[in-house]
Amino acid sequence: MSTEQPTAPAPTPQALVRINDPAPQWTQVTTHGEKSLSDYAGKWVVLFSHPADFTPVCTTEFVGFARRVEEFDALNTQLIGLSIDSVHSHIAWARDIEENWGQEIPFPIIADLDMKVAKAYGMLHPGESATAAVRAVFVIDPEQTMRAMIYYPLNVGRNMDEIVRLVTALQTADAESVAMPADWTPGDPVVVPPPTTMDAARARMDEPYDVKTWYFSTKKL
Ligand code: BEZ
Repeated sequence: MSTEQPTAPAPTPQALVRINDPAPQWTQVTTHGEKSLSDYAGKWVVLFSHPADFTPVCTTEFVGFARRVEEFDALNTQLIGLSIDSVHSHIAWARDIEENWGQEIPFPIIADLDMKVAKAYGMLHPGESATAAVRAVFVIDPEQTMRAMIYYPLNVGRNMDEIVRLVTALQTADAESVAMPADWTPGDPVVVPPPTTMDAARARMDEPYDVKTWYFSTKKL
């Protein structure tokens, strides 16, 4: 009798993109012509992958992203979609969404047929799909540094409110040198960085914040 254990399939070699790494650069065909990540330097970018064109959950996400484009514009943020489909498939799907949902898709969609971007960003999760990108979201700042990423499986669509909230929270945290508590939305108190010395901890109790305890202070912006 064989004692060999079944082995898991070898993972596709992919980069692991980490928070605060430079975002991997790319140049690819999109529904708006050939584009490079560097074209968007100076703007925030939300790069998001979907498993496949002409699929129902992805369609709800595209309608959702497209309906929020003005909010992303107000945040100086460019949406860029991606899947491992051809540009003709993307064009046909975008036209179908416009016809059936009345929603124009105003942002570019990368046709990542050679999977260059999917592999560089780690969008392929072989345990979920061998051939399709998972639902990944990458938030890239104006210096083209990776600031956040979210991964969802194939069978759950993403939450647009959360993606808008994430970009808003990152921008506010940068501008105000504060941190954002759980479930923060604009208008809520923000977290003041905790003191890092004994003297500062003692002094914190008298500072003009809402001081709960030495390491937990909030303020209104
Ligand atoms: C969808 O978007 O509906 C979908 C895509 C890939 C696998 C399963 C569902």
